[in-house]
Amino acid sequence: MAWLITPCSAESRAFGYLREAIAIERRARRCAAHWAPHLQHSRAWLLQSAGAGGALGVVLGSGALLDVPLAELAARFERLYLVDMLHLPRVRRAVRAHAGVVLLERDVTGVVAPLARLACRRAPLAPAALAQIFAAHPDLHDLEAADWVASVNLFSQLPLLPLAAAARACPSATEADLLDWQDRLLSTHLAWLRQRRRGCLLADVCQRTLRPDGVVEVMDYAPWLAPWGPAAAVWDWCLADAAETGDGRRILHRVGAWCW
Ligand SMILES: C[S@@+](CC[C@H](N)C(=O)[O-])C[C@H]1O[C@@H](n2cnc3c(N)ncnc32)[C@H](O)[C@@H]1O
Repeated sequence: MAWLITPCSAESRAFGYLREAIAIERRARRCAAHWAPHLQHSRAWLLQSAGAGGALGVVLGSGALLDVPLAELAARFERLYLVDMLHLPRVRRAVRAHAGVVLLERDVTGVVAPLARLACRRAPLAPAALAQIFAAHPDLHDLEAADWVASVNLFSQLPLLPLAAAARACPSATEADLLDWQDRLLSTHLAWLRQRRRGCLLADVCQRTLRPDGVVEVMDYAPWLAPWGPAAAVWDWCLADAAETGDGRRILHRVGAWCW
């Protein structure tokens, strides 16, 4: 039902953002016990970082508002922008109770719409055409005056769907091309955040998949996060246990909080 009634862009449907948003809500319900400590830590750090609030607060990656203390943040800021590719019906209903809260349907990377325009051409794309898109900077100037900006468990997600779309549209893209584009998306987001006067970054430091045969697959974000120095706090989040994955794998994320 949410698939049919959620108002969102054609790109959010085509690239899989809507599918993912619905899946996250459902997984959060199934994995509530495993997710609870992570959600509590996230909410607590957001409130600690937001402090007394101000005129404008911005939450990037607000999603299903699982890790966002909506009422408390809404009470601290005159206006609170919740920014995400899309906002599910439950989120739209939840914000109605808070006059100062504004939902912004926005791609914080700026690559999704141009990528979608190029990807709908029939002929396969050359890597050079996509490199230009990934080198561009998103236009987030209306968010720059914010008193406080939070990036909420969004960082590691930024490259996933754009890179999948890029790989489909450009079969000649090499592993190195894809890694380069991933680097640009991650680095651009962190660079933009660093320029904000006050904020909070909640981000995966490392993702591990433990397979039943003992092999561990690791995605390490430390190279991007190292310049931020030690996190104020780090915790583990069991994203999915063996019952959830259904194939014996366990997916564990280590999450860090940086406040400035
Ligand atoms: C893991 S969820 C974060 C959890 C979320 N804070 C919650 O409580 O449900 C990542 C969120 O980032 C959003 N997202 C991913 N890429 C994005 C982009 N380019 N621009 C804006 N939001 C994006 C997704 O739609 C999703 O809601």
